[in-house]
Amino acid sequence: MAVAKMIVSAITETQLGERLVAVTPASATILAKLGVEVVAQAGCGIKSHLNDEAYQKAGVSVVADRRDIISRSNVLLQVHALGGEPLNQADDLAALKAGTIIIGFADPLTNPQLVRTLAGRKATLLAMELVPRITRAQNMDALSSLASIAGYRAVLLAAGRLGKIFPMMITPAGTITASRVFVIGAGVAGLQAIATARRLGAQVSAFDVRPAVKEQVQSLGAKFVELPLNTANAQTTGGYAREQTAEEIQQQRALMMHAVAGSDVVIATAAVPGKKAPILVTRDMVQAMSPGSVIVDLAAARGGNCELTRPDEVVDVGGVTILGPTNMVAEVPVHASQMYASNVANLLKHLVKDGNIALDMSDQITRDMLVLKDGETVNERVKSLIEAPAAGHGDK
Ligand code: NAI
Repeated sequence: MAVAKMIVSAITETQLGERLVAVTPASATILAKLGVEVVAQAGCGIKSHLNDEAYQKAGVSVVADRRDIISRSNVLLQVHALGGEPLNQADDLAALKAGTIIIGFADPLTNPQLVRTLAGRKATLLAMELVPRITRAQNMDALSSLASIAGYRAVLLAAGRLGKIFPMMITPAGTITASRVFVIGAGVAGLQAIATARRLGAQVSAFDVRPAVKEQVQSLGAKFVELPLNTANAQTTGGYAREQTAEEIQQQRALMMHAVAGSDVVIATAAVPGKKAPILVTRDMVQAMSPGSVIVDLAAARGGNCELTRPDEVVDVGGVTILGPTNMVAEVPVHASQMYASNVANLLKHLVKDGNIALDMSDQITRDMLVLKDGETVNERVKSLIEAPAAGHGDK
């Protein structure tokens, strides 16, 4: 008798404005080779320009009934783990059976409400934001994939808003000087922003509290702004920045005033994992910039690096435009879905043994990402948040 294969499914994302999908026809081919059955909700790829026929050609069973898929699946692959609009979430949750494995972004460290809800349904949850940044997990690191795209798009957004061109031009009408772009935070998004601004011909400078990135900044043809701050212990053993003290932030703002005021464009990407974004650009600094300048604050969803940022709004302060887009990657769904789906497929390649998911807690990738196991919170970082009294968004 044929043994039923594990069912791995993708359903349409319901979060407002989301256009990505967690499985593409190309990634489905990789998944099928693992000995699983791949199911997709009809139309799930349409916003990434992937039609149902393309999925069917890749051997995917396309099913219209979302509830049916959710209730039958062993593994649900998503961009936002059963998040989305509360209206749909209630329906989805009702269809979810105990023990279903959900893989997607779940925001477990800053908004544990979804984790609590999924725990109530006895689900197993692997959170994509908890992929460790280790060499072995690089091809699963969706945050890095999306941050690269966001860094690139942030520069294009700024270039489109700036009343100047980026490159220097020597013309019969005179010489136009290159625009000055200052990038705050030279992690994944920041480095991509630097590279993009350089390609467009801007004069680029950058600052990061981790001195280790100086060489990378310079290798992209940008200037590393040296601030007389004590950054000797700014980096954790995991390679991330540690959270700066209020005093250190204060000092940094004062020293960055000159760099911000002298820039046409500021791209702000400073972040410490699991923490609110540090506010590094104050009202005074914005007011010191020339009218027509543009700030793109990629940290808007985490509170912003600029104190005047309002998520997904355009703020004008004395002619300086401040933009805080929270989902830049949705603007390039084709490549963003390609990268995300490939990260998820690589994770499945790592987890699936003999056609089934094997959760091995001695493996760092599993240990770091596994938030819930059959409803039980097993992740130490998330446990303390979940067990704290429900505080809604006050947890942030
Ligand atoms: P990352 O962790 O790779 O880089 C952040 C960098 O900020 C690190 O290099 C860190 O050393 C630096 N940093 C921390 N504190 C700093 C300070 N006080 N001054 C200067 N630098 C400081 O993070 P990644 O992946 O590059 O993401 C950057 C930001 O972009 C995050 O807030 C992330 O949530 C956001 N993002 C936004 C998207 C959007 O669509 N708006 C999409 C993807 C990411």
